[in-house]
Amino acid sequence: MARKAIGIDIGGTGIKGALVDVRKGELLSERVKFATPEGGRPEDIAAVVQRIIETLPGVSRGLAVGICFPAVVQHGRTMSAANVSKEWIGFDADAHFERVLGRSVHVLNDADAAGVAEMRFGAGRRRKGLVMMTTLGTGIGTAIFMDGKLVPNAELGHLEIGGVDYETKASFAAKERENLDWEAWSVRLQTYYSTLERLFSPDLIIVGGGVSKNHQEFLPKLKLSAEIVPAQKRNNAGILGAAWVAADKHYD
Ligand code: BGC
Repeated sequence: MARKAIGIDIGGTGIKGALVDVRKGELLSERVKFATPEGGRPEDIAAVVQRIIETLPGVSRGLAVGICFPAVVQHGRTMSAANVSKEWIGFDADAHFERVLGRSVHVLNDADAAGVAEMRFGAGRRRKGLVMMTTLGTGIGTAIFMDGKLVPNAELGHLEIGGVDYETKASFAAKERENLDWEAWSVRLQTYYSTLERLFSPDLIIVGGGVSKNHQEFLPKLKLSAEIVPAQKRNNAGILGAAWVAADKHYD
C-alpha cells in the first residue's frame, strides 16, 4: 500500500483536503479549505477539489486521491444526494474526478471514511464487535463495523422516527436551525441513539462531526447500554479515512 495519499472531504458547506501519511494516520500538510460552491454541482465541486490539490504543498505526481462525499457511493458511483445537487444521483464520480484531476481517485461515503479513520487511528482502535460511527453535521452520517470490517453505506441518519427523517431533527444543523440548547438537543439525540441501540445492539458508538469537540455538553446526558464515546479525529477523520482507503487500493 502507498505511504502517502491526498484526502479530500466534501461537505454541504465546505470542502477540505490535506496530504496524509496513511501509515501513521497523520496530516503531512496544512488543511486547505474552501466553501462548497452554491448548488453543489459536479463540475463546480471538481474545480474546487482541483484548486485544493494545487494549493497543497508536497504533492507529487503519482499520489492517489481519496474523496469522501455525503452520499451512498457504490462502485465509484454516487447514488444519492441528500445535501448536494441531485445531479450526483447515479453519477460516475470516480471517473469524473479522475478525468479532472488526472490521478487515481477513490470516492466513498463521508461517514464510512470517518469511521475507517476512527477504527484505524482513533476511538475505535482495536475494538471488536459491532461498532457504530455517527457524525453529527449538516446531516447525520453513520457507518457500521463488525470486528473492524466496514459494512458500507449505512444510511441510518435517515431513520424515520415518528414519521420524520430523523436527521432533520437531530443533526447539528437542526440544533443550529432551531436554536436548540444542549438540553433540548440531547433529548432528540437520546431518541435517536436509543432507536439505533434497539435496532442494532452495538457494543460501541462513536460520535463525530465538528460538534464532538463539545461532547461534554451532551454525551453525559445520554442514557444508553452501549458505551458511547467522542471521536478522536474529529474534523480530520474524513480526510484521513478517505486517504487511507485510496492508498490501500493504490501502489506507488
Ligand atoms: C447522507 C449520508 C451522509 C450524511 C452525513 C446524509 O444526509 O444521506 O450519505 O453520510 O448525510 O454527511
